[in-house]
Amino acid sequence: MVMLRVERIEVFYGNVQALRNIEFEVNQGEIVTLLGANGAGKSTILRTISGLIRPRKGRIIYLEKEISRMSVEDIVSKGISHVPEGRRIFPGLTVYGNLEVATSSWRKRGASIQDELNNVFRLFPKLRERMNQLGWSLSGGEQQMLAIGRGLMSRPKLLLLDEPSLGLAPKLVQSVFETIKTINAQGTTILLVEQNAYAALQIAHRGYVLENGEVVLHGPARDLAANENVRKAYLGG
Ligand SMILES: Nc1ncnc2c1ncn2[C@@H]1O[C@H](COP(=O)(O)OP(=O)(O)O)[C@@H](O)[C@H]1O
Ligand SMILES: [Mg+2]
Repeated sequence: MVMLRVERIEVFYGNVQALRNIEFEVNQGEIVTLLGANGAGKSTILRTISGLIRPRKGRIIYLEKEISRMSVEDIVSKGISHVPEGRRIFPGLTVYGNLEVATSSWRKRGASIQDELNNVFRLFPKLRERMNQLGWSLSGGEQQMLAIGRGLMSRPKLLLLDEPSLGLAPKLVQSVFETIKTINAQGTTILLVEQNAYAALQIAHRGYVLENGEVVLHGPARDLAANENVRKAYLGG
């Protein structure tokens, strides 16, 4: 079943066109990766899906409804959660506080968030130990875990991840990708933006390659990993 369908969107920043005729699909249960060099338009696609930017042309269809004119809050409450690039956690809130704020999309007054917390702490046991620490005092890796954990607190059906491995030590990169795979295996569909094409293609089902705001290639992750042009451009030969 198609969960998300991006239909020929055109996106501008002022007069500068960032996305041209972008078209792709994400099926329920998949990990789909968007690959491409810096500036190709990957983050812009995620921002457009989550309602932060409006497409000038085209539509975004999620669970058979058009969402491209909806508010960010309505899109979140329909089950799309966006973990932006650069781990934008709240530095002045505790780990618990950062996780708790993300439940407002579904939480009725006084309702328990224990199930969601337990789920996040099962994936990231370090966060349980750090529960009462302030955001700024966490390491880079812990902040990334918290950013992903916060994304999960809104009970997403579709998780948008923007460069989750950026700036992490190689050992942590591996563990973040393992966790993404686990989150997917537990039933969350994932749209993954990455510059680490090698690692992304290891866990993704399908991928789309972007250049200058256009999709230039797409296919099963296995085929992309074997594609000569992809290997030259993104996998170091
Ligand atoms: N806030 C912004 N204002 C103006 N131009 C932007 C802004 N954000 C991104 N761009 C431009 O849009 C294009 C796509 O950027 P982006 O989506 O961030 O690429 P990626 O995530 O693939 O690195 C780039 O040319 C970038 O310079
Ligand atoms: Mg980006």
